[in-house]
Amino acid sequence: MDWPVNVGDLEPLARDRLEPIAYDYVTGGAADELTLADNVAAWRRLRLAPRNLVDVSSLDTSTKLLRHDLPHPILLAPVAAHSLFHPGAERETLRGATAGEALAVLSTMSSTAVEDAAAGVSSPFWFQLYAQRDPSATDSLVARAAAAGAAAVVLTVDTPTLGARDRDRRMGLPPSTYPNLSDLPEEPDDTPPHRRVFHSRFSPSLSWPVLRHLLDTSPVPVLVKGVLRADVAAQAVDAGVAGVVVSNHGGRNLDTVPATADALPGVVQAVQGRVPVLVDGGIRRGTDVAKALMLGADAVLVGRPYVWGLTVGGAEGVAFVLDTLRTELEMAMGLLGATTLADLTPDLLWD
Ligand SMILES: Cc1cc2nc3c(=O)[nH]c(=O)nc-3n(C[C@H](O)[C@H](O)[C@H](O)COP(=O)(O)O)c2cc1C
Repeated sequence: MDWPVNVGDLEPLARDRLEPIAYDYVTGGAADELTLADNVAAWRRLRLAPRNLVDVSSLDTSTKLLRHDLPHPILLAPVAAHSLFHPGAERETLRGATAGEALAVLSTMSSTAVEDAAAGVSSPFWFQLYAQRDPSATDSLVARAAAAGAAAVVLTVDTPTLGARDRDRRMGLPPSTYPNLSDLPEEPDDTPPHRRVFHSRFSPSLSWPVLRHLLDTSPVPVLVKGVLRADVAAQAVDAGVAGVVVSNHGGRNLDTVPATADALPGVVQAVQGRVPVLVDGGIRRGTDVAKALMLGADAVLVGRPYVWGLTVGGAEGVAFVLDTLRTELEMAMGLLGATTLADLTPDLLWD
């Protein structure tokens, strides 16, 4: 396979290979897709201020996140239904994550049951949790994920109701099955599509008591994903979360919320280093990763880029995306005069 030179160049290649319904599903955002576009634009807007005359003959992108020693700070974000993109689905993705030395977050809405996805996988992974309407169903998902080897649970808190995903409403959703949920009850919904607000699976009652219960009962650390506000981040840390993921769900839920690059500094300030802060949304370049760390993130996640890689080249494509971003990060660090991730300080952003 002749790989393109950057991650963005994979998108048209993926588009050529996907049914339009699947392409629109992965590409689309909510409503007018303003936040979707702004996620990418906000990283691009930031300008860099290199520190010259630093010996950069040795560059180290390694980091520690919870108890994981990671060779680089780029994670795979939870994305539903990988069988739409490759017949090997999440198993293929995890092989790519292993090859690219990245920690992957498996979605509740995976095409592969967490036990099957994780079988034989030696690298660490986390499990993304959608709280279910029946609390015991949520408990059972957490227990299954932990038993399958998930080292942490990432509770998504930005999806209590559906977003106005116009593309999905025009095209319909591609057919998928969700084996993690196959034994769990689903709320029948006979409202017509144009009046539908609630997801048949996800709990609209997701609130602080649900998080507190999860924190009390989960055998593995719990992070929250989908936070933009500083006060919510601070309250979650006070409640005992092990990390906060600044995310707007890739612009797929509530349109016109800010880009994650713009929300990140407020959350970092509120968390005050008590737990790691991660960020996702619009990260397409090594410079985006560097900028996220300059703004105080401990690590980043990418979503759509690795789905394009998975579509185009399976595990190899996922690893290509990770390797490319990691190499671009190293280049950026060298040119910025930063030899370690700790050197990626805010003064490297042009004021
Ligand atoms: C097709 C697709 C499916 C997604 N499924 C989930 C999911 O199941 N759970 C979740 O928490 N986030 C989900 N997300 C959001 C991602 O985890 C992540 O926040 C987002 O993709 C990051 O933005 P990026 O795609 O610009 O990198 C999904 C995103 C996409 C594109």
